Amino acid sequence: MVCTTMIRVGCLVACAAVASGLHTDAGALAQLRGSNHSVLILGCSVDRNAVESFCGKVDRFYRVGCYDEKRHLNIGFVFHPGVGINGDLQPPFYNRTRWGSMIGQPISDVNVLHKWSSTMVGELFPDMVVVDSSLWDLSTWASWGMRNVTYNRLRQWGMRDLKNELARVSEAYNKSRIVFRTAPAVYKTKWVVSDTGYEYKDVAVFSNDGIRQMQKELRKHIKDGKLYGKYEVIDYSQIMDDLIQERGADDPSLWLKDGYHPKTESAEPSRRYLNEVFRLMGLATVEKMVEVDTSQRRWAPAAGDRDEAGNLP
Ligand SMILES: *[C@@H]1O[C@H](CO)[C@@H](O)[C@H](O)[C@H]1NC(C)=O
Ligand SMILES: *[C@@H]1O[C@H](CO)[C@@H](O)[C@H](O)[C@H]1NC(C)=O
Ligand SMILES: *[C@@H]1O[C@H](CO)[C@@H](O)[C@H](O)[C@H]1NC(C)=O
Ligand SMILES: *[C@@H]1O[C@H](CO)[C@@H](O)[C@H](O)[C@H]1NC(C)=O
Repeated sequence: MVCTTMIRVGCLVACAAVASGLHTDAGALAQLRGSNHSVLILGCSVDRNAVESFCGKVDRFYRVGCYDEKRHLNIGFVFHPGVGINGDLQPPFYNRTRWGSMIGQPISDVNVLHKWSSTMVGELFPDMVVVDSSLWDLSTWASWGMRNVTYNRLRQWGMRDLKNELARVSEAYNKSRIVFRTAPAVYKTKWVVSDTGYEYKDVAVFSNDGIRQMQKELRKHIKDGKLYGKYEVIDYSQIMDDLIQERGADDPSLWLKDGYHPKTESAEPSRRYLNEVFRLMGLATVEKMVEVDTSQRRWAPAAGDRDEAGNLP
């Protein structure tokens, strides 16, 4: 499938606008903290893939992180399943995973968030917290509603659910910079699949159309270049659009074989994504990502890791 009509969502905020004053902020903050920088990413597989390829390692499915000597940077990824079906950060979530839909949402509990920031990046209040809420939101709504995302659901998301989710993060990390990351374009539509394996070709778990509508809703809430006038935005959607434009086509090699995870390894998307994070923090950009053996990811908490069991996938 070649999507010649690949959407161009257009940038949400002034494209690649990075305030120059931010370097000193990040630098000053790091000095206060004994020269280390820290970024915690609360997101989905898109973020996990990027952190794995930056760190050159895999860990649990739901978290991975490392200390980067070159940048004196503690970077960590923790999975969260989105706003949920009602938008209240409570289950059920997307119900087609091996863990079922009753998984925990760390953003609903300030103590859980603080546990993650301390264990993953060694700070209660990381310098920066990047939040994604997109593909899992679309997936949750589609898998329970058995229909494509609607205008009204997205409207509620923009007006209330996402705002509330970011407010919880911002309360828990009230000394951190909170940055929202948008959804990357996909190459293929992911369809809802029944328990018996039947693909419903009229219900998209997510599609470029859904992502475009999501971007459109977000754009209504950009004030003074920030989401809700408060949160800086890393526009992964724009990063993918730029790459597509540069290649002159929807080069399928920008994605993994599944057609919706942006490629990691030496390919561009996740490198550019993390470089946006690093630019905002005033840190050196990364030239080369590392190929990791994702089959070595651990899908379940290790035996004896009781404090994590049953909490997150
Ligand atoms: C910086 O982070 C590393 C890795 O987490 C840690 O070992 C080191 O003690 C930290 N340094 C300072 C000055 O906080
Ligand atoms: C997921 O939700 C749909 C819609 O309510 C339901 O038909 C299906 O059985 C659920 N699947 C699982 C695995 O819970
Ligand atoms: C910031 O968060 C901490 C921990 O959650 C809390 O104790 C403190 O009162 C908050 N400060 C402000 C100004 O909201
Ligand atoms: C749902 O969205 C997909 C992807 O955009 C589209 O192909 C499909 O026709 C839509 N289904 C309905 C019922 O409109």
